[in-house]
Amino acid sequence: MNVKKVRKAIIPAAGLGTRFLPATKALPKEMIPIVDKPAIQYIVEEALAAGIEEILIVIGRDKAAIEDHFDKSYELEKDLEERGKTGLLQAVSKISDMADIHYIRQKSPLGLGHAVNKGRVFAEGEPVAVLLPDEIMDCRTPCIRQMIDVYEEYACTVLGVLRVPESEVENYGIVKGEELEKGLYRVIDMVEKPKREEAPSDLAIIGRYVITPEIFEALSEIRPGAGGELQLTDALRLLHAKQGMLARTVEGSRYDSGSKAGFLQATVELALKREDVGPEFRAYLRRMAEEGRI
Ligand code: UTP
Repeated sequence: MNVKKVRKAIIPAAGLGTRFLPATKALPKEMIPIVDKPAIQYIVEEALAAGIEEILIVIGRDKAAIEDHFDKSYELEKDLEERGKTGLLQAVSKISDMADIHYIRQKSPLGLGHAVNKGRVFAEGEPVAVLLPDEIMDCRTPCIRQMIDVYEEYACTVLGVLRVPESEVENYGIVKGEELEKGLYRVIDMVEKPKREEAPSDLAIIGRYVITPEIFEALSEIRPGAGGELQLTDALRLLHAKQGMLARTVEGSRYDSGSKAGFLQATVELALKREDVGPEFRAYLRRMAEEGRI
């Protein structure tokens, strides 16, 4: 079988980010930094580390900051050079050299399915990786690479999943699956945000997918679903009815940085791993614990 390589990724970043208001009044949610890097840069780095060659970021109203972030900043680079700030200069220039990033506007936030459908022309009939920028994955093998590996073996859509506590199933799309081998499931069905007693399992769909190009037909067929939005899960269900689909449990840590608590967790965990601020921050947390303040 001649399986097409997964070269392209779509990053939908056109949501309103209401959970982070007022910060997101003028700043895109994806540009809020975790330690010192905007959330979306972690996602672009994950895609590139996984071998993705071309990226499409779907942007909305007031998202120019995202384009500017990945663009070259001649004035800043010149300034840093003149001040001899070589480390910072490298960090800044690396960003604009990262990849071939394309942008497309989603004029109104009509839903994640609508945002992904903006990538139809970009995909040109190839399979696409979809990465949601409000989930930061900290994995030894880049998270989306784990999905791509399965795609390259089975040539079908692959959903990234994680087991969640029973109390949280209501917040996710949940997969009913048959385990084929450890951590790999044949998808039998999926339900969007089920009630706890109706959830078919505890396998939650996280924001990482590798999807066959037929998804774009399905995205054109769906009608507004939950919350009046065009839902990616609804299109995946249609696709599932036509093609086989697999789900792979992800190895690594996930932070729901689109929620306040998840964002704070990501900040603490990723800061602790940093060589520069990590030791000082760890000492501070220890002190807090010793003083009984946490
Ligand atoms: P969310 O619903 O979690 O993000 O969408 P949101 O709408 O920006 O945030 P809240 O709930 O108001 O705080 C998941 C992902 O899908 C993108 C978002 O940018 C986010 O990365 N999205 C969502 C779009 O690109 N377009 C949409 O119409 C909806």
